[in-house]
Amino acid sequence: MNNFSEKIISWYKQNKRDLPWRNTQDPYLIWLSEIILQQTRVDQGMEYYLKFAGAFPTVKHLAKADNEKVMKMWQGLGYYSRARNLHATSKIVSEKYKGSFPENYQNILGLKGVGEYTAAAIASFAFNKPHAVVDGNVYRLLSRVFGIETPIDSTQGKKEFNTLANELIDKKNPGLHNQSIMEFGSMQCKPASPDCSVCPLNSMCFAYSKKCVSELPVKSKKTKVRNRYFNYIVLRNKSSVALNKRGEKDIWNNLYDFPLIESTKELTEEQFLKSADWRSFMEPLPEYTVRSVSSNYKHTLSHQKIYARFWEIECNRSFEKLLPESAIIIPKQKVQDYAIPRLIDKYLKDRPL
Ligand code: ADE
Repeated sequence: MNNFSEKIISWYKQNKRDLPWRNTQDPYLIWLSEIILQQTRVDQGMEYYLKFAGAFPTVKHLAKADNEKVMKMWQGLGYYSRARNLHATSKIVSEKYKGSFPENYQNILGLKGVGEYTAAAIASFAFNKPHAVVDGNVYRLLSRVFGIETPIDSTQGKKEFNTLANELIDKKNPGLHNQSIMEFGSMQCKPASPDCSVCPLNSMCFAYSKKCVSELPVKSKKTKVRNRYFNYIVLRNKSSVALNKRGEKDIWNNLYDFPLIESTKELTEEQFLKSADWRSFMEPLPEYTVRSVSSNYKHTLSHQKIYARFWEIECNRSFEKLLPESAIIIPKQKVQDYAIPRLIDKYLKDRPL
């Protein structure tokens, strides 16, 4: 064991959080936790992990579940392709691998939704194989301690950090080493204002000695964010409301929202009501009442910012003829039976149907 590994493992033993997926070697539970934690904070992910592990104690239970149920249970976590891949992979493990997770790193990596980081986490935590995990926390820690300025989002950077992480790994305790390096990166070597005075690596830390902790790691590109403007039409009468099932080519694949008119910029109420899209949408049903117009909701995704406004439209007559094929009409009180994006859930909490 090298000095670096020794120090982070010793720190980990004293400072680690007690997290349920750390008290198991079951590759299914480890995989489940890692998929949940891919784009979710530990405190938020915990509730979902416990819910999924409770409802589906083995991969076969998950494989047998109804897809709508899995999607509904995922609601609120976002990045729903994770839930779709989770379910698809559970079926593959259940059938092709007869319910036992593959132990070989390449086979683990071959599973849908499992990238290099997740494959290394499963291989090391469940099977104690020496594959180094390199997540955002590890990039930050290594860039600071070893003074690496290669951008972490470049091909060269990925290679360099991966090689270094694999050189540092404790081959006798790869699982423990990996848990330690991630926890150390997340809790001690924090992104902003870490307390370096108490850090057990400070005597060997390049960034600490050169006073450039806040300048590392280096990123080359800023993520491009696309702004989108959603004008949602909440079509309702006394008992029913229309939902729209989203297609495959856009965000929120297969989730339910409302019929939508997307515009290229934010429209005032007046501009919207005058727009050709709105007029042609409502043309088959000239009698309607605008019951409410919401304020603007801002919803941030990794590469998109959605600005949404909800138009609640009371219809006296049937509104079926307004709807695209992807829409359904349901009793109002059943809305929460459908998997809906967080943005829609927020709106419905503010303004129940
Ligand atoms: N984030 C991703 N995987 C994690 C794990 N195993 N423990 C804590 N945080 C994590």
